[in-house]
Amino acid sequence: MNESRLAETSQAGHTTTESTIPGGNMSYKRVTLSQFLMEGQHRYGGSGTLTSLLTDIRTTCKMISHEVNRGAMAGNMGVAGTENVQGEEQKKLDVLANDIFLHMTAQSGNYAAMASEELEDVHVVHGSAGRYLLLFDPLDGSSNIDINIAVGSVFSILRLPDGASGETLESFLQPGVKQVAAGYAIYGSSTMLVLTTGHGVNGFTLDQNIGVFVLTHPNMRIPEDASEFAINASRARFWEPPVKRYIDECLAGAEGPRGRDFNMRWVAAMVAEVHRILCRGGVFMYPVDDKNTKQGGKLRLMYEANPMAFIVEQAGGRAITGQDRILDINPTGLHQRVGVILGSKNEVDRLERYHQDYEATAGKAEV
Ligand code: AHG
Ligand code: MN
Ligand code: MN
Repeated sequence: MNESRLAETSQAGHTTTESTIPGGNMSYKRVTLSQFLMEGQHRYGGSGTLTSLLTDIRTTCKMISHEVNRGAMAGNMGVAGTENVQGEEQKKLDVLANDIFLHMTAQSGNYAAMASEELEDVHVVHGSAGRYLLLFDPLDGSSNIDINIAVGSVFSILRLPDGASGETLESFLQPGVKQVAAGYAIYGSSTMLVLTTGHGVNGFTLDQNIGVFVLTHPNMRIPEDASEFAINASRARFWEPPVKRYIDECLAGAEGPRGRDFNMRWVAAMVAEVHRILCRGGVFMYPVDDKNTKQGGKLRLMYEANPMAFIVEQAGGRAITGQDRILDINPTGLHQRVGVILGSKNEVDRLERYHQDYEATAGKAEV
């Protein structure tokens, strides 16, 4: 219930205890994440495993949030002096967040194995009887750490296939449609956890004083139309023609073919871009371009693109590579990269059409 509803009920005399102060502290009136998970468990007839899986994630994200907030005071800034498997420089917080994820999610025994952006191979949880697999990007947007701009964590949960051992890479190579749950935490001006278990998307804000996530963004929906795009424009000279066409038309504004002005944002943290799109619509793109074709794109399918695609689709948006639906891709590697175009449905439809148009013309036919 939002503040104005509370004010209405109060005015109608249904209650005398609720505050009518605009913006007043209502945390104690809200549904907590624990209550929300328990209610979902009853509604969808779960055994409690999913609740337990997500409870592990909740604690993990609270701990990482704490470390991000302490920043320089805790010596958490700067580089770790190491590289991950993908040859990227690791920040201290990348390493710390990865350790927190591994430690906190192993304890309950829910997960058979894990995979992380920061680990080359599958991490087996020895002695676990768990039937689930966890994939995560422990700290997304690492380049923002040292400049105090939003960063996040992204996770995806898969079932261990029947008869499979958690120790094999093959167990992880499932298309995104098989995800049991996915979500992200954003460590921004406030810390939020945004989740889906395939029944819509819900956002919870961390009340730092009591250490509890409360439901502040129930049933998040992405508007179908939008006038805001996010792309790293420094790569414009490498863009493929369909992307260039789309951006050129947006930039042409009210005088161009779109007949309206567009706005642009680039936070350099996918978590923050997706969160903005969930809140007010828009498109986010990190497409395959002439410079990253060999790698297959920039963002990683298993722990960045898939969980975000699941969330975006559950909120009424779309997520494609340009040609294909991200959630349908059959993965071939843990750290596989992929082109990503996601957000408001009608804008992604348009981008898909531009890719199809291009492929139907000489441009691709000649190749
Ligand atoms: P990570 O910090 O986990 O490596 O991910 C960063 C990703 C993504 O979150 C963001 O959208 C993109 O890289 C930023 O790329 P640029 O540095 O090209 O702007
Ligand atoms: Mn990332
Ligand atoms: Mn990362």
